[in-house]
Amino acid sequence: MMTPRRWRTAALAGLGTVLAGCASNAPQDTWAPEGPNAQDIDNLQRPVFYIAGVVGLLVFAAVVYSVLKFRDRPGRAMPHQSHGNKVIEIGLASVSALILAVLAVPTTALVLDLAEKPDCNYTVQVVGQQWWWEFSYDNGAVTANEIVIPTGEPVCLRITSRDVIHSFWIPKLNGKKDAVPGRIHDWKIEADKPGDYWGQCAEFCGLSHANMRIRARALAPADFEAWYANEASDALQPTDALALQGQTIFSQQCTGCHFIDGLTTTDAEGTVTPFEYTGENPLVAGAAPNLTHFAARSVFAGATWETYIDDPATPEDDSDPYTDDDPVLNRTQLEAWLRDPPGELPQAPNEGRGMPNLNLSEEQIDALVAYLSGLK
Ligand code: CUA
Repeated sequence: MMTPRRWRTAALAGLGTVLAGCASNAPQDTWAPEGPNAQDIDNLQRPVFYIAGVVGLLVFAAVVYSVLKFRDRPGRAMPHQSHGNKVIEIGLASVSALILAVLAVPTTALVLDLAEKPDCNYTVQVVGQQWWWEFSYDNGAVTANEIVIPTGEPVCLRITSRDVIHSFWIPKLNGKKDAVPGRIHDWKIEADKPGDYWGQCAEFCGLSHANMRIRARALAPADFEAWYANEASDALQPTDALALQGQTIFSQQCTGCHFIDGLTTTDAEGTVTPFEYTGENPLVAGAAPNLTHFAARSVFAGATWETYIDDPATPEDDSDPYTDDDPVLNRTQLEAWLRDPPGELPQAPNEGRGMPNLNLSEEQIDALVAYLSGLK
């Protein structure tokens, strides 16, 4: 029974749903393509949406009309009972079939188009895993959560998974492609202009599925080249005492899961020795982000948090919500993440997924932050 109160609740819920479509800050808006692949999808989905919308409205109106017009009222006789109308049934079925047949032509063409492999200057291996994304480049660069691409050219992706099925999706740059263990799916993304493009794992993959985000950072070709060259280099050596201490803690506590290319240890006399990954440290996670250039990334922990945030000490300029005014290290959140990862994001370290709580002391956290923030 729909009481007035239930009607109000239903109306409010409906209104809320509709108004949610008006959000201006909607970085994963599928209706706002920023590259040719997403544009092609948009060119197809718009007419389909409009046709389906008109059909939907007509059907909805007919249902409402019939329900109101022919409803039972006191004193009404039982209406004439009949078994359908051949002309209407065959007519409607034929029109529906015809619409679907017409839509199938551009849809199939686009599916084949998107499946075509372009000639790419850059190919990125994409590995989904619980609950983050790894991106490896041909020159040895490895990033996590943030895929950096040059503007104005297609970038080829080879997508797979280390554990369960995930789905790679950056709506503004292309459609979805599943990441399936044991298979490699070819895909491509392309951005017209520099900027940050948000994506999301689009296949339910367990506890922190909702926190398995992707940021594509598109850079002008020259900026990209600089980034690309820097990413292939070994990690910077820390220079100050606190960061050196952090490096030692890292080599003792973090190397069971995380790699840093060119990691060294420095003893009390200042002798620098290359750190050797012996494989003896038990891996808590099946794999963890390579942190060689941690501080060059704009996001961390499944792209959940920004590595750099607006400096609270400088006045706010909100003209561009995606750019930080005067970025400073997001120290509070980085410390919180190191202090208690499962408390910050759902993790399952006991099952080999996600980051465990290492019970680091505040001194250790300070030193690690000093070290990590220098890894540009
Ligand atoms: Cu990975 Cu959902």
